[in-house]
Amino acid sequence: MDQAERLRNIVKQQNIQRQLARVITVTSGKGGVGKSNVSVNLAIQLSRMDKKVVIVDADFGLANVEVMLGIRPKYNLADVMFHQKSISEVICQGPENIGFISGGSGLREMTNLGRDQITGLVSHMSDLDRQADVIIIDTGAGIADNVIELVTYSEEVLLVATPEPTSITDAYALLKTLCRHLDFNSDRTCIRMIGNRIQSYEEGKELFDKLNTVINRFLNMDMEYLGAIPYDENIPKAVMNQKPVSMAYPDSPSARAFLELAMVLETGEQFQAYPSRGRGLAGLLARLFRADRTKNN
Ligand SMILES: Nc1ncnc2c1ncn2[C@@H]1O[C@H](COP(=O)(O)OP(=O)(O)OP(=O)(O)O)[C@@H](O)[C@H]1O
Ligand SMILES: [Mg+2]
Repeated sequence: MDQAERLRNIVKQQNIQRQLARVITVTSGKGGVGKSNVSVNLAIQLSRMDKKVVIVDADFGLANVEVMLGIRPKYNLADVMFHQKSISEVICQGPENIGFISGGSGLREMTNLGRDQITGLVSHMSDLDRQADVIIIDTGAGIADNVIELVTYSEEVLLVATPEPTSITDAYALLKTLCRHLDFNSDRTCIRMIGNRIQSYEEGKELFDKLNTVINRFLNMDMEYLGAIPYDENIPKAVMNQKPVSMAYPDSPSARAFLELAMVLETGEQFQAYPSRGRGLAGLLARLFRADRTKNN
C-alpha cells in the first residue's frame, strides 16, 4: 500500500465517524487571488477521497464557480427562503459527484428575514449537514461586511494569498477587521493560509511567515500554513474550458498541489487541536442570526 492509499484509507475511516458536515469558508483580502479555483479543486480532490462535498457560492457579484464548473443552476438559496424549495431541489449536480448551491441574492437578503424564515432556513441547512461531509463556502474578497460576518462565525477558514505586496497587505487588513469584530474568537475559528501562484515551496513558506509574524505581533493572533499552489498556466487554460484543472489536467503541478492540500486538510496531524467533526452549516447560520438579532434588539 503506498502513502496516498494509506491516507485515503484514514480518510474513509473518518467518513464513517462524522455526523455533521465540516464547513470550510474560503476567503481572501484581495480579489482575484484564486479563491474560486481553490474551492472547486479542493472539492474535486476531496470528492475523490469519497467525501460528499457541496460548494456554496457566497460571492454575490459574479457567478464564478458555476462558470468554472460549466453548470447553470436553476435555483438558488433565495428559492429556499422565499419560494419553498427544498435543499435537494436547489443543489445542482456538478462534475465528479460534487454538489453546488448558488447563493444568488439569498445570502445578502438574510439580514431581512423574519423569525419563521430563519427557522426554516436553518432547518433546511440541517438537512444539508446530514447529506454532506464537507461544505465549502466560496466567498467574495475582502472587507465586505457579509464576508467578515461569515468568516467570524466559521470554524474553519482558508485564507488565500499570493506573493504580490497588495495581496499581503489586503490579507492583513482582512485579519485586522476580523480581529476587531466583537464576536471573533480565535479559539473557535481556525485560520489556515494557502499561498497561491507561488514559484517555489520556500516562497510559499516565506509568504506565510511574513504574514504570520505581523499578525502575531500586531493583532496577537495566529494562523496555520496549509500549503501552496504553484503558478501554473494550466489553471487559466482550464478556466477557459470551464473545467477545473484537477479534471482537465490531473497531472499538472497545480492539480497535484490541490491533492496534497486536500490530504493535509483531511489527515494533517498539525490540526489535531481542532475537532475533525464538523458542527455544520446550520450551526454557523444559527450563530450568525443570533448575533444579528442581538445587535438589532
Ligand atoms: N495557481 C495559479 N496559476 C496561474 N493562474 C492562476 C492560479 N490561480 C488562479 N489563477 C488565475 O487567476 C484568476 C483568478 O482566479 P479565481 O477566479 O479563482 O480568483 P478569485 O479569488 O475567486 O477571484 P474573485 O475575487 O474575483 O472571486 C483566474 O483567471 C485564474 O485562472
Ligand atoms: Mg471567486
